[in-house]
Amino acid sequence: MRGRLVAGNWKSNGDLAANQLLLGHLRAAAAGLQGVDCVVCAPYPYLFQIQQLLAGSTLTWGGQDVSQFGAGAYTGAVTAAMLREFGCRYAIVGHSERRSIFGENNAMVAAKFGAALQAGLTPILCVGETLQERESGAMEQVVGAQIDAVVTAAGVAALGKAVVAYEPVWAIGTGKTATPEQAQAAHAFIRSRIAAQDAVVAAELKILYGGSVKAANAAQLFAMPDIDGGLIGGAALVAEEFMAICKAAQRH
Ligand code: PGA
Repeated sequence: MRGRLVAGNWKSNGDLAANQLLLGHLRAAAAGLQGVDCVVCAPYPYLFQIQQLLAGSTLTWGGQDVSQFGAGAYTGAVTAAMLREFGCRYAIVGHSERRSIFGENNAMVAAKFGAALQAGLTPILCVGETLQERESGAMEQVVGAQIDAVVTAAGVAALGKAVVAYEPVWAIGTGKTATPEQAQAAHAFIRSRIAAQDAVVAAELKILYGGSVKAANAAQLFAMPDIDGGLIGGAALVAEEFMAICKAAQRH
């Protein structure tokens, strides 16, 4: 059976004092959870603090992005090997904010996916359509192309070492969650797209839902057969909310 995973995406939030409090709460609360991996994806400068405060806990952590390049003259870019040095297990790639605000395209995201994987990180590959794309009936075309770009570049077997997060852009930070049925339909589509190339990889792949997940709606989403956890933005900054979401993802 597929495991469950809940990853918090802090985005550009946090400071040393607030992080210390939040991490202390998470560390204590996560000790009681079973059957779900809880991950914290924080801004780069705080990974050192996270490594200090979460070492030896049941939580793991990761970067919110990663360079598609290795070491060299790439001002501002953080390599996968650097993330590894700070104990990261994961790197988010292709988050919609990276795609829309920072101009990342499918080819760049596929390169970042490959760089993360090569360094031994588990990429959390984000895919999802905008409202306009959904309303024009292009969800499958857009999400399919986002998945295909990575499969073409890295091979379908690479998805066996990755996690996919379906995050409809219209649901991120808007308070508008996809209904469990809408999310399930998209997750099933993603799984079938991958199954067409490798049924075993598809069956074992964790597909997270992201977009306004909260303690109040998590259980309904996680009850869907193809939803294996969540990628959590705003609610990941509040210890009780994040832990309630992790709890809702536990397999009963
Ligand atoms: P949200 O963000 O939970 O604040 O909607 C999710 C994400 O962007 O990963």
